[in-house]
Amino acid sequence: MPGTMKAVILSEPTPAKQVRITEVPIPQVCPGWVLVAVKTFGLNHSEQILRLNEIQADYINKPIIPGIECAGEITDPSDSHFKKGDKVVALMGGMGRSFHGSYAEYALLPADHVFTIHTELSWTEIAAVPETYFTAWGSLFECLHLKKEDTLLIRGGTCALGYAAIQLAKAIGCKVISTTHRENKLELLKDADRALLDTGTLAGTLRGVTKALELVGPKTLRDTLRCVETGGVVCNTGILGGVYALNGFDPIKEIPNGVYLTGFFSNYPTQKSMEDIFSFLAKHQIKPAVGAVYSFADIARALSDMDRHRVDGKIVVRI
Ligand SMILES: NC(=O)c1ccc[n+]([C@@H]2O[C@H](COP(=O)([O-])OP(=O)(O)OC[C@H]3O[C@@H](n4cnc5c(N)ncnc54)[C@H](OP(=O)(O)O)[C@@H]3O)[C@@H](O)[C@H]2O)c1
Repeated sequence: MPGTMKAVILSEPTPAKQVRITEVPIPQVCPGWVLVAVKTFGLNHSEQILRLNEIQADYINKPIIPGIECAGEITDPSDSHFKKGDKVVALMGGMGRSFHGSYAEYALLPADHVFTIHTELSWTEIAAVPETYFTAWGSLFECLHLKKEDTLLIRGGTCALGYAAIQLAKAIGCKVISTTHRENKLELLKDADRALLDTGTLAGTLRGVTKALELVGPKTLRDTLRCVETGGVVCNTGILGGVYALNGFDPIKEIPNGVYLTGFFSNYPTQKSMEDIFSFLAKHQIKPAVGAVYSFADIARALSDMDRHRVDGKIVVRI
């Protein structure tokens, strides 16, 4: 194995066009950590937030290799239960924030945030799964307890997570209403039963919604709480609207009687959840939705296309 690897390293807010690949030492394993040869990784909205702004926060360990997820093979299992060559995915738990992440040829990762996978999917397809499908899965099944009889509203459906959520919900037989704030993107929501243009106010225009997945976030959450029937549940998972908190939120007046509010945080994936997700995708013959694929050498263009909303769906980078 050569002593160095290619990686992206950031230490300050960095526009996409200034992102460069540099040569750095391959990290050495230590107890509890394993070395993964990264094959592919997906890009995430949260990495854009980190690169452009959040990187200034004290809790980001700088300089940092960003990237909150990857797919690859174990090259050094250290003292873990893994074997060299095991096919794995890894995500979250501080990846790309507290310790180096996936925008690199190798990633040194805590063994308890690395998960074995058994799948026929290609590396490109696998890359679209860990963060996006885990978040869709957790939001829909752990938080919303989604059932076949439900009518699901997905607010902010034209993102990787939104497309994944449509696939999972349709696979169990739900009725799905999905929204976009751009009229020209309505056709991208064709897999939903109904695609709606979101003008900012949906309350009073919908009937029979029992569950809602809020991806626009606090910007529209108050309105979404008024879109579900009594007994309905709203899960706030996204922050696409750029508003991160509900300032001055008055739960007595703003959560309608008999409506439930929950939220999902993808920081705690488990081996079981990854197995359940990959089995579900195989059982329902779901191909993970990939919007575009770039080579690692083209990372600046991939990030720029993300910043300019040029790709519909998950952006995957191949090492
Ligand atoms: N809670 C968690 O643990 C967790 C985990 C993963 C992701 N998330 C969040 O879930 C959301 C989706 O993540 P992702 O990685 O799937 O995103 P992504 O694929 O990077 O999606 C970004 C796209 O969302 C679209 N979008 C749709 N509605 C929007 C709106 N109202 N305002 C702005 N943009 C909108 C934008 O395109 P157009 O404007 O052209 O439509 C943009 O291209 C993000 O907010 C992310 O932070 C949360």
